[in-house]
Amino acid sequence: MAFIRLFTVALASLCFATSAEAYQRKPSPFTFSSTPNGLQLGGPNLAPEIRVAPDDLPGVIRVANDLAVDFGKVLGSNASVVKADWKSTASSKPSKPVIIIGTVGRSTLIDGLAASKKLDTTALASKWESFSYQVVLNPWDGQEAAFVIAGSDLRGSVFGAYDVTEKIGVSPWYWWADVPPTKRQYIWASDLTYTEGPPSVKYRGIFLNDESPGLTSWGHAKFKDSQYGSPFITDFFKRVFELVLRMKGNYVWPAMWSSMFYLDDTKNGPTATEYGIFMGTSHHEPMARADKEQSRFLKGSWDWKSNKGGVQSFMQEGANRSKNWSTIYTLGMRGSGDAASATLTAAALEEVIAWQQSALTKALGKPLSQIPQAWVMYKEVPGYWQKGMNVSDDVTLLWSDDNRGNIRRIPIGNEPNRSGGSGMYYHFDYVGDPRNYKWINTIQLQKTWEQMTLAYDRGIENIWIANVGDLKALELPTAHFIALAWDRESFQAVDSTKAWLTDWSSRQFGEAVAESTSDTMTTYGKLTARMKYEDLSRTPFYFSTVNYDEAEVNYQEWVDLLTKAQAVHDSSSSDVQVAFFEMVLHPVLAGKTVFEIYTKVAMGSKYANEHRTSANQLAKEVQIAFSADSSITKRYHGLLNGKWDKILSQNHIGYSNWQEPASQTLPRLSYTTSAAKNALMGVTAQGNTASFPTTAKLSLLPLSPFTPKGVDRWVEIYTRDNGTFSYKITSSASYINITNSQGKLSAPGGPSDARSLIAVDWPSAPSGSSTATLTITNTDSPTAVATVTVPLENEVIPPVFKGHVEYAGAISIEAEHFSPPPASSAEYMVVPDYGRTLSGVKLPPKTPSQAAGGKGHVLVYPFYTFTSASAATLTVYLSPSENANPNSPNKYSFSVDGASPATVQPVPVGDGSQQPAGWAEAVIQNAYVSKQNLGKLAAGRHELRLWLLEPTMVVTKLVVDVGGLKSSLMGPPESHWVV
Ligand SMILES: *[C@@H]1O[C@H](CO)[C@@H](O)[C@H](O)[C@H]1NC(C)=O
Ligand SMILES: *[C@@H]1O[C@H](CO)[C@@H](O)[C@H](O)[C@H]1NC(C)=O
Ligand SMILES: *[C@@H]1O[C@H](CO)[C@@H](O)[C@H](O)[C@H]1NC(C)=O
Repeated sequence: MAFIRLFTVALASLCFATSAEAYQRKPSPFTFSSTPNGLQLGGPNLAPEIRVAPDDLPGVIRVANDLAVDFGKVLGSNASVVKADWKSTASSKPSKPVIIIGTVGRSTLIDGLAASKKLDTTALASKWESFSYQVVLNPWDGQEAAFVIAGSDLRGSVFGAYDVTEKIGVSPWYWWADVPPTKRQYIWASDLTYTEGPPSVKYRGIFLNDESPGLTSWGHAKFKDSQYGSPFITDFFKRVFELVLRMKGNYVWPAMWSSMFYLDDTKNGPTATEYGIFMGTSHHEPMARADKEQSRFLKGSWDWKSNKGGVQSFMQEGANRSKNWSTIYTLGMRGSGDAASATLTAAALEEVIAWQQSALTKALGKPLSQIPQAWVMYKEVPGYWQKGMNVSDDVTLLWSDDNRGNIRRIPIGNEPNRSGGSGMYYHFDYVGDPRNYKWINTIQLQKTWEQMTLAYDRGIENIWIANVGDLKALELPTAHFIALAWDRESFQAVDSTKAWLTDWSSRQFGEAVAESTSDTMTTYGKLTARMKYEDLSRTPFYFSTVNYDEAEVNYQEWVDLLTKAQAVHDSSSSDVQVAFFEMVLHPVLAGKTVFEIYTKVAMGSKYANEHRTSANQLAKEVQIAFSADSSITKRYHGLLNGKWDKILSQNHIGYSNWQEPASQTLPRLSYTTSAAKNALMGVTAQGNTASFPTTAKLSLLPLSPFTPKGVDRWVEIYTRDNGTFSYKITSSASYINITNSQGKLSAPGGPSDARSLIAVDWPSAPSGSSTATLTITNTDSPTAVATVTVPLENEVIPPVFKGHVEYAGAISIEAEHFSPPPASSAEYMVVPDYGRTLSGVKLPPKTPSQAAGGKGHVLVYPFYTFTSASAATLTVYLSPSENANPNSPNKYSFSVDGASPATVQPVPVGDGSQQPAGWAEAVIQNAYVSKQNLGKLAAGRHELRLWLLEPTMVVTKLVVDVGGLKSSLMGPPESHWVV
């Protein structure tokens, strides 16, 4: 039987037809139509035969079986696996399409093809984790063609097989997130040779952590507990290892809260090695021994000073036990249980590490240069290093973030030259100050991209490991992190994140919903970047309930996002809807519900102060949302007959300190009680905490023709008690339009509240400053009359002006809206969708430190004011980036109207052992808010110049206050921008 059609079709051009996307996926050689293209690998009732050499590595034989089953998932009939060497293969005449998989230098099949000049493996030989696959014509006498997957080493072959299965339609997440395999009738391979590797980052992986209650409770129900009570046995880890390898990762730190990886299942260690996974232990578990082993097996205390002998034999045992397994040894030492040691000095730590290295050479019988070792610079540990320590070069310095995604340190001085290189321990989940975040995904992928490309471009390329919590609910940031570590090159473009997300969405949920899913999750990232769920319970509520309608506009964005996510879900094909729910709809729905609870609690408190009966309605809605939150969790737990039961059992509502609440706790609700019968009508105006009748005269923020689109001005009329009344609003000026200018309100039953929008017909309004007055009358009780002053600023700007224009006493500027000429700002990168509002602006990671006020690297922002300010200020919103280069801390310079630039260092440099002052507030708000005095600022045209002096910082927004700025989390909505 012949499965080959000569490659006469213009295959190459067909396959290379990728769009000019920022994230470039290499063209795939596979096509799936019935039209013959190259070599047929599958068809109706036709699956390939997979040949693997019997003496290839066990992990390659294992993956050949996965490949066969994956063909079955796609085609409906499994491929068969034939273990055969080159001699018997070269004389065989298989009746099915043949796939050969093997490792260069290990597989007689691959080496046989190479020896007979059918396959060129020279490009693969001795490379780290690289692979190629292609159709080989006439691989042996009488055989027309074979499809050959060749790996440079164990993981090269494994990644090659998994790359093929992903391209034909099996997602790495088929089990962990229930992505259904794509059903195909035909699979053809073109004449394209496909290659990948070596990876950008040598060791790439995940840390399962903070695994209780979620992963642990789920695991107890799914896996047999070990003799020590842990569910994390080999059946569990096989799933983890497979996922990591399918994503092209190679490194795992196991769950350790109540587990001992090497003891919970004695097959754990060898299984990892067979699969091709390097195991590590977390930052405070040196020498491949779990923290929990200390309490069980250590003789004496975990203290180098007083119990050196006990600690040494404990550590030596870790090295001995793991000597035949692929391990990256965590070195160093901290105190007991993820805490700083009270007795350890820098000198003692130097001794610890030197001793650990001698223990490793002794146990493994190999030179240190062949033993991967990492010393994790976590929490207090960099403080020791900063004091000056002599640590052998072959130890990887594994730097870390601040637990909130901000890299604390990049390699400096001689560090980039160390033979052990550098690594990064990064967090998508955390337990600790200022608050845990371990419920669902709160990661903005653009932030990960920004920080990890900084890490990579500054030489952190030996190890990347992410704390992924329970793993479930963090599928997206995990997939993104490993993809970036595998191939940083394809993420060169500043807008690669969104493009990658679209590509990833297409692979999970299908082409038809890829773009809309990508939009949905991009917005989700932005909304969660404004505040993590666990921080929302802080009082007063960070989103202003008074100014700029901040709290309600933010919540409305969640409502709109949910509408969109639900629509995308409903339009997706029914077989992907479970996966879509798990990874897209659930986070949006659950996130919206938690934001609803806290927003309505905060609005309810404001409403109760205003004596609105609708405060009671809001309280009711909060209770409904609170019980919806449990139903949403139940819905998740009920998927697929309870496959994920208990996985989301993390309490997440009612935080009152850093640690999780003991139970889900409804925040305190506010109610309105009865009012005097003659004071039924209440009135408030936007931006006011006061209300009528307590205050008879209210005032709105000024309106001008430059009030940005989408910014409303309003007054609200409402019932203060049960009852009914009618109202009427009149204006002193004919050029003011009022919606809902009359109506009837009643409680209970409603409607009890009416919002009237104020618009001005500017051509008819007097020029310059004036005021109009709104009179609001309870027409059933005409003595009740409220007045609201509406300040008008009917200003003009010179027709030549380009830039931002003041409104309501402030100028608010999104950082990316700098002014041309681009020459001055060309060195900057605009990171789209970064941060809380629009984007981030930064210097490329490799840019050296800049001098203050230099000619290049300047961002120019012209702005126009109508107010003459005696004490203007500038607020610069920066990412919460750390001083990652302590020799060259984050700084920016600014100048207004050509004054000599002032330089600001927003964050002090510490000794490396703890977070700088102001850190907690910055990570809660996801911004350093840096405020500077500008002094007098006359009305008219101005120019603000801003220089970022370090590539480690990102600016997102700038606000100039000329006297009208109100407090809020994110600053006013952007001012009118004349381009
Ligand atoms: C393919 O193999 C897997 C694993 O052995 C098995 O569960 C599945 O039923 C097989 N599929 C078919 C279509 O035979
Ligand atoms: C209004 O009436 C409802 C329903 O009768 C009652 O529950 C509520 O307490 C009343 N509100 C006030 C402010 O008296
Ligand atoms: C005010 O209302 C009038 C009449 O409805 C309408 O024609 C006009 O466009 C409105 N002006 C503004 C500024 O909304």
